[in-house]
Amino acid sequence: MIRYFISVFLTLYVYYLALVIRLKSKIMKYLTSLLLFICLLASQGIAQTTITLHADEGEYTISRHIYGHFSEHLGHCIYGGFYVGEDNKMIPNQRGIRTDVVNALKELEIPNLRWPGGCFADTYHWKDGIGPKSDRPKIVNTWWGGVTEDNSFGTHEFLDLCEQLGTEPFISGNVGSGTVQELSDWVQYINFNGESPMAELRKTNGREEPWKVKYWGVGNEAWGCGGNMRVEHYVDVYRKYATFMNARWGDERIFRIASGPSDDNYHWTEVLMRDIPHQLMQGIGMHHYSVINWNKKSSATEFSEEEYAVTMQKAYDMERIIRGHSAVMDQYDADRRVALVVDEWGGWYDVEPGTNPGFLFQQNTMRDAMIAGMTLNIFNNHADRVRMANLAQTVNVLQAVVLTDGEKMLLTPTYYVMDMYKAHHDATLIPAKIHTVDYTLEGKSIPAVSVSASKKENGTLTISLVNVDSRSAQPVSIDLRGMHAQGVQGQILQAAKLQAHNTFDQPEGVHPASYNGAKLDGDQITLTMPPFSVIVLSVR
Ligand code: AHR
Repeated sequence: MIRYFISVFLTLYVYYLALVIRLKSKIMKYLTSLLLFICLLASQGIAQTTITLHADEGEYTISRHIYGHFSEHLGHCIYGGFYVGEDNKMIPNQRGIRTDVVNALKELEIPNLRWPGGCFADTYHWKDGIGPKSDRPKIVNTWWGGVTEDNSFGTHEFLDLCEQLGTEPFISGNVGSGTVQELSDWVQYINFNGESPMAELRKTNGREEPWKVKYWGVGNEAWGCGGNMRVEHYVDVYRKYATFMNARWGDERIFRIASGPSDDNYHWTEVLMRDIPHQLMQGIGMHHYSVINWNKKSSATEFSEEEYAVTMQKAYDMERIIRGHSAVMDQYDADRRVALVVDEWGGWYDVEPGTNPGFLFQQNTMRDAMIAGMTLNIFNNHADRVRMANLAQTVNVLQAVVLTDGEKMLLTPTYYVMDMYKAHHDATLIPAKIHTVDYTLEGKSIPAVSVSASKKENGTLTISLVNVDSRSAQPVSIDLRGMHAQGVQGQILQAAKLQAHNTFDQPEGVHPASYNGAKLDGDQITLTMPPFSVIVLSVR
């Protein structure tokens, strides 16, 4: 916008000059036109995006749990993705858990992992997945592909995975088809340190010490696959489950997350906040997917620029939705004790041709990198209320960070964004003021550039920038206040095409590179962001 104002101003000024000197000669006319042309060119180089950061201010911590992941018994997320079985001699593993996937996720320092669903959670009976594997019953995964599962990946295997990853488990309890006793028993089995029937059963199954799991979901999508409940009914169900989940089964208090709204269903949030005592509820789970149209999605790789723009508009909706829920929550909880937990988010497209439609296997392109960068900026900037989030889903499902094919594994553009952003984990949010131009396509506009910034205890400032504009580069100028910057370095993720992605034959096609295009001059940083790019700057 600023660019256009400057262009118009300069143009009028040149015409004014032309009038004042009453051009008569042809040469003067040509010179005036040339001057006009130079002015227009010059105006293109002036920053269209200006950002002000007060590096010495900051009230909230960006919880590392915003960078959480989600792993459901769905397609090849668990079986084939995380877990290949302990007898597998082809794929290196530790007690059946793939070493390559664990190493890739350890690099990301993933803070938590949600399991076993999703919709699957409300069909899952945890006692089917403990004890000798040969005794475990086979079950049918009725939500995802109708496949038969042998329950070889259960509670012990999931918690082993979390220990291998060094991440915190987040378990979604079965409310839809389970019982209060069943979920209370699960908490007892996992967390109780004394003598009790469930603690004894755990020890019989080979685990002496409790795992002390903190994060527990009380059902999933109670408004849909979790039981098609009305929120007025669910609040009473929740109160009952939450009461018995907590009864002395651990030294530390657990963090219970209610099944919250879909998208902008503010009524659902309002009833939860109004009718559930807050000491029983530490978080509300909200789900929002970036999907063009549930009845007509798009190919994950062969999409048009218009489809890209609409996907980005859907992703940007996250800002409005979070603001809406936060406003409702503020009315009942001014101190912001209850967290908004976005425990499912990401892009959702058609499955890859030839794959099982129930497995939700999709490729991952620069479009997904844009969704990830922009959404994580939104979460960071709402760190006062959004204190946990889970990208759907970690491996081989929806907006995955890792894809596998037998022994092969690749890292997606989304993986690299998560990696570039990890300096934000548990850092202090630095409020950012931004003026940017609009990215307009299909008659709708969203801001072209988004930003979030944070400061680590060692004083390093991290600035993550995303330019979602598919066509235009964006000159950016950052005004740094409250800090004497000594140097700036960065990383960039960009590609020649929006559709660029990594394949098993070319796993390194999209990859971040170091970036030295940011210039520091006193308290100003200037850079030009290429179209559809993510840049993360580290300022000392
Ligand atoms: O992530 C896939 C599915 O999307 C989950 O199982 C469900 O919770 C949501 O509808």
